[in-house]
Amino acid sequence: MAEDNPVLKVENLTKRYSGKEVLKDACLSVRQGEIKVLIGPSGAGKSTLLQCINFLVMPDKGRIWLEGQEILHSKKKELYAYRQKVGMIFQDFNLFDHLTALRNVEIGLVRVRAMGQADARERAMAELERVGLKDHVSKYPAQLSGGQKQRVSIARALAMDPKVMLLDEPTSALDPELITEVHAVIRSLGAEGMTMIMATHQIGFASDLADEIVFMENGAIVETGLPSKILSQAECARTREFCSKLTGLYGDSR
Ligand SMILES: Nc1ncnc2c1ncn2[C@@H]1O[C@H](COP(=O)(O)OP(=O)(O)OP(=O)(O)O)[C@@H](O)[C@H]1O
Ligand SMILES: [Mg+2]
Repeated sequence: MAEDNPVLKVENLTKRYSGKEVLKDACLSVRQGEIKVLIGPSGAGKSTLLQCINFLVMPDKGRIWLEGQEILHSKKKELYAYRQKVGMIFQDFNLFDHLTALRNVEIGLVRVRAMGQADARERAMAELERVGLKDHVSKYPAQLSGGQKQRVSIARALAMDPKVMLLDEPTSALDPELITEVHAVIRSLGAEGMTMIMATHQIGFASDLADEIVFMENGAIVETGLPSKILSQAECARTREFCSKLTGLYGDSR
């Protein structure tokens, strides 16, 4: 895809809760294979932006294009098709507790993509193997570590062949020793060319992985740029202040 043809483009996304704008005219685009990382203080609107991009939360204003096609979310069919192409990974995994890892991945393939049972099983196995869980496919979420659960949730998203993955603090609910394994999977997705938008507070990981870092505050995108620029030479004083604090706190959390 050409440089100026983004895979995903959002324009003027705005969301209000009880009359308060928590997302203000957010504009963003990602090219094929690009990784954008959202950073900013708690309450900045990072999750709201990701949720609005996926229409999990309906924006009050704004437009979204996927591969050049504007998404008309009021049309149910179009919305479902779009959601299949935009994978979402949550902090708390969002797995079905009564289903094994394998069934968790399989179920979308059968129910949403209408795949036959045998094909769905084969594909689900392949995706679980891709995230290093070949030996855990028959376990239920309660029998898996947090890192393993998050990898199941990544496998489930990958099984839908997403064009873009949205990741909302994918490792913030994990113990430090489990973070590395999930980071490794996300890194390998990046190396395979997956287009991603990820919110994280893990600045070391963000700076390693991101093509661009987007700093948000009070619902607005304040500044966007290369990690080297945003993290140490940001133009906006607020970005500099936030990044210097974050670098001090989480500098080595790769
Ligand atoms: N469902 C909701 N109802 C009312 N207010 C909400 C809702 N969801 C989010 N908000 C508010 O919107 C603002 C942005 O929240 P959001 O969760 O997007 O921030 P964030 O940048 O993801 O923060 P964090 O780093 O803590 O995850 C906050 O002030 C929050 O209280
Ligand atoms: Mg959040």
